[in-house]
Amino acid sequence: EKIKEEIQCFHMKTSNDLDIFRIKFLGKKKGIITILFKELKKISIQKRKIYGKIINELKKEAQNKIKIFHSKNEIQKNEKGLKFDPTIPGTSIEIGSRHPLSILKNRIIDLLTKIGFTYVDGAEIEDDWHNFTALNIPIFHPSREMQDTFFLCKNPDFLLRTHTSSVQIRYMKKHSPPFRVLSIGKVYRNETISSRSNFMFHQAEGFYIDKKVSFSDLKQTIHYLITSLFGKAKMRFRPSYFPFTEPSAEVDLYCNSEWIEIMGCGMIDPQVLKNVNIDSEIYSGFAFGLGIERLALIIYKIKDIRIYFDNDIRFLNQFKSEF
Ligand code: PHE
Repeated sequence: EKIKEEIQCFHMKTSNDLDIFRIKFLGKKKGIITILFKELKKISIQKRKIYGKIINELKKEAQNKIKIFHSKNEIQKNEKGLKFDPTIPGTSIEIGSRHPLSILKNRIIDLLTKIGFTYVDGAEIEDDWHNFTALNIPIFHPSREMQDTFFLCKNPDFLLRTHTSSVQIRYMKKHSPPFRVLSIGKVYRNETISSRSNFMFHQAEGFYIDKKVSFSDLKQTIHYLITSLFGKAKMRFRPSYFPFTEPSAEVDLYCNSEWIEIMGCGMIDPQVLKNVNIDSEIYSGFAFGLGIERLALIIYKIKDIRIYFDNDIRFLNQFKSEF
């Protein structure tokens, strides 16, 4: 029992400990177990059987301990084989940045939802009624002509929307006022690609319908949006014409000693309200539409509109934003 305990309690850490253990218990000349086996020859056959069994068990115990030591060592060796070094810095993952148009889109959504606008999405494929007719755009209006609009099919007419004003119609048909709505998305016009124009661009459309909405509400909303985006900006409302607003205006921004047109707006024409079954005697509203690309050119001092879609990583990497 004593020897058994000694075997069990022997602490082995290094291969040197293993050697000491082996010599101590199983050494060919002086090993404790070896000596016991030698002693066995000297005693009577009957006792030899009993003691032989005990000594054999001790031998097994010692051999087992050596086996366990080896298998543990094996695992350690394998771990070393992986060459895992926790002190080596990890490989960093490159994080992308948002596209400038997405940043501006998110900023506009953030600013306008703060003052009560609800964000909605609209379809890019429209029919003639939602894109033109309901918005008071008569058949002979130039924006209906083939050079401006991408028609998908004729009779019935389906087209790629030329502006986000179609969202006004879809929303007003489904909901009853009062409401403030914002929508941002792609619009398409058959235009020659240049540094200033593209056949596809993004528009933001805002509209508000309630009792007694006036032009001053429109001015205040635009003023809030523009000063939030540009700081103390010099802007002006210039009388203009849109078939679906009356009166209509264009908003210009003063930058680099010139006036730049940035959006169209106006009071929603009562006829448009009638087209979507809203009582124009009770309700009035305003609407505005602006080009995201155009606005981003000014904010980020970009000279060519085409760079937005070149996917040049050197350009895209420059935009880091919380949005
Ligand atoms: N839809 C007009 C355009 O595409 C912009 C606009 C929107 C004007 C809303 C007035 C009111 O140019």
